Amino acid sequence: MCLEKQDLSQILETAIVAARLAGQRAAEEMHYTKATLKNETELVTEADRHCQQIIVDRIRETFPDHGFIGEEGEPGKIFKRPPRGEPEIWWVIDPIDGTNNFAHGIPIFAVSIGVLLKGSPIAGVIFDPGTDSMFTAVTGGEAQLDGRRIQSSEDDICPVTSIGLDSHFGDTTPPWVDAIIKQSRFRNFGTTALQMVYVANGGLAATIACTPKLWDITAGAVIIEAAGGTTTDWRGQPLFPVDVDRYEGQSFQVLSANRVVHPKLIELMKS
Ligand code: IPD
Ligand code: CA
Ligand code: CA
Repeated sequence: MCLEKQDLSQILETAIVAARLAGQRAAEEMHYTKATLKNETELVTEADRHCQQIIVDRIRETFPDHGFIGEEGEPGKIFKRPPRGEPEIWWVIDPIDGTNNFAHGIPIFAVSIGVLLKGSPIAGVIFDPGTDSMFTAVTGGEAQLDGRRIQSSEDDICPVTSIGLDSHFGDTTPPWVDAIIKQSRFRNFGTTALQMVYVANGGLAATIACTPKLWDITAGAVIIEAAGGTTTDWRGQPLFPVDVDRYEGQSFQVLSANRVVHPKLIELMKS
């Protein structure tokens, strides 16, 4: 089933309101919220859960039959509520992307809300409360920052071009990481979602994430695509559609880039 343009605008408007509400709440709680270890390497705060609840409640008011995947579920689990009936729409939510920054009082984090139809992104909103910036897109439309069109750059890899890298590559850092660091200015903001929107508006030529989850990349992917860039896996293959019914928090390997550097980075990453 395809969606009417009107449905997409209502989805986008709802996502914008939900992201703003959650972002405002996160900003209010930042200096007071309690952080605990979620596992050996990740923190979670009470604000992560509060913000996810705010988002889900707001979306359900308008779309009671849609499905949800959120980062924060019962301990050790993701939050997952399948859609009821058609069209099969899933909202994919990262209430706070950049929790480690957030928990340490660094105001660089984002709310990321993506929407999947049959496993492919159709809308995405990423809100940065620190700068009050709302990045949005729907498939077939413009990528926008606060209502103004944004586009990915045509910057090539060179010493004055910035490329985002993940902050953790596991036990063995791939050899191409060193090459990227030497050939460009590497950046890590501590939030995959913000690194993706800065590819969309041309600030970064590319960003590479090594273990993002669906909620880290869904909104960013649709915004980058609408901005003229692209998001694939490390071999250049499409990430979507995903089998959402079976999704339980698996990681992806993701390269988001402008169209100039994407093929070059794919080649480099074969090394
Ligand atoms: C994290 C951030 C971070 C990335 C991690 C993610 P979270 O998300 O996006 O930049 O390096 O892999 O888990 O936990 O803050 O939502
Ligand atoms: Ca995240
Ligand atoms: Ca998160």
